[in-house]
Amino acid sequence: MTYGPSAGAKLATTPAHGHDDAPYQPVFTGAARDELETLCARYPSRQAALLPALWMIQEARGWVSDGAVEEVAQVLGVSAAHVRGVLTFYTMYHQHPVGKHFIQVCTTTPCNLCGAEDVVNAFLRHTGCGELGVTSDDGRFTVIEVECLGACGFATPVMINSRFLESVTPDAVPDVLEECD
Ligand code: FES
Repeated sequence: MTYGPSAGAKLATTPAHGHDDAPYQPVFTGAARDELETLCARYPSRQAALLPALWMIQEARGWVSDGAVEEVAQVLGVSAAHVRGVLTFYTMYHQHPVGKHFIQVCTTTPCNLCGAEDVVNAFLRHTGCGELGVTSDDGRFTVIEVECLGACGFATPVMINSRFLESVTPDAVPDVLEECD
């Protein structure tokens, strides 16, 4: 397992879907707990495994809920406030449910000048999301804008979960979405 692609989210508003009021079911049981313990053994302290632990939660559940914050705090022996501080610092962690396919489009100036806004609008239209940060009714897609993805010569770059795409145009968006299962 790898832990954590990242991008600087410009906007991640509370979506219209998903909630956090179901009884929390722990992630770190059985094989997942064993994996966490193996990870912890690589670090000088359990606290140092916080980032990969949060990533494991997100891989398992799609986001990091309040219950998950408490669980991570408990298994690593740190305070929930500390976990929350780290969670809220890094934009790659989702603090609310997102679509199965989390679409990040670079709209920083170089890509913007090459038409990134049109790409964003095409994603919003073809996914049915309608607005940035809102999950589509079928739960499949969430679209956000992000800062530079490090591919300024290949506007417009897009990340869909861990998949990185370059030179995406508005016309290509339907085919890109077709490849999302
Ligand atoms: S500005 Fe878009 S990838 Fe750098």
